[in-house]
Amino acid sequence: MTSQNPSDLPAQPNRAIRSFVLRQGRITSAQSRALAQLWPSYGLDFTGGTLDLDAIFERHAPRTLEIGFGDGESLVTIAAAHPERDYIGLEVHEPGVGHCLLAAQQADLKNLRVMRHDAVEVLMHALKSDDLDEVLIYFPDPWPKKRHHKRRIIQPAFVQLLGERIQPGGRLRLATDWAPYAHWMLDVLSTSNCFDNAALDQGFVKRPAERPVTKFERRGLRLGHVAHDLEFIRKVVSIT
Ligand SMILES: C[S@@+](CC[C@H](N)C(=O)[O-])C[C@H]1O[C@@H](n2cnc3c(N)ncnc32)[C@H](O)[C@@H]1O
Repeated sequence: MTSQNPSDLPAQPNRAIRSFVLRQGRITSAQSRALAQLWPSYGLDFTGGTLDLDAIFERHAPRTLEIGFGDGESLVTIAAAHPERDYIGLEVHEPGVGHCLLAAQQADLKNLRVMRHDAVEVLMHALKSDDLDEVLIYFPDPWPKKRHHKRRIIQPAFVQLLGERIQPGGRLRLATDWAPYAHWMLDVLSTSNCFDNAALDQGFVKRPAERPVTKFERRGLRLGHVAHDLEFIRKVVSIT
């Protein structure tokens, strides 16, 4: 790998370095209306306190968290296909959140809630140990320049935090179309004491048939990029 060695990075998430830059972005009037009108049905406010997910969804079902859902189209497609599971989507980009709310309403979803907040803080403060059965991180910002590698969301400390929130036997699924980031992810996850690689050869997995093509993936495909998929299983043994 030609990039900074991920194992040299800090063991605690560094909150001064974020994995996103908040762009203003153009918000359509429909997205703006959705944020105002649909937030009470689908939105979860970040208060710094812990979420009671059973109370929020009014049941106890396996839960999937998607980090950085973009416009939310793929999250809504997956949630609609699995009414037996509950879904929480995290995104910081306001127009994307508005778009997701509109799609959720059109699909009449009952099993999706959305937070507009930094995933690191949500995992640290709003979610509890073993709250999640599955985490999806599809096409996270690749931060290709070496001086920006510290902004990549996949870092040893973040993977440790994911390990604490995903229950034993739960899954972490990732995809990226930036080959150096794919190898970075593989390095970080393979050295984590929280996860086992689901791939028999300890490399990448075949694209899951269920994974919808995302907006960012389509952009990569137009540029001739190839998507790499990864799947890791939370170890059953204690990780502390
Ligand atoms: C490259 S886009 C991919 C979006 C979508 N998954 C797709 O494939 O189309 C990455 C997204 O992650 C979001 N993001 C980055 N860091 C985040 C964080 N710490 N918490 C929540 N969202 C984040 C960004 O706002 C951006 O929309």
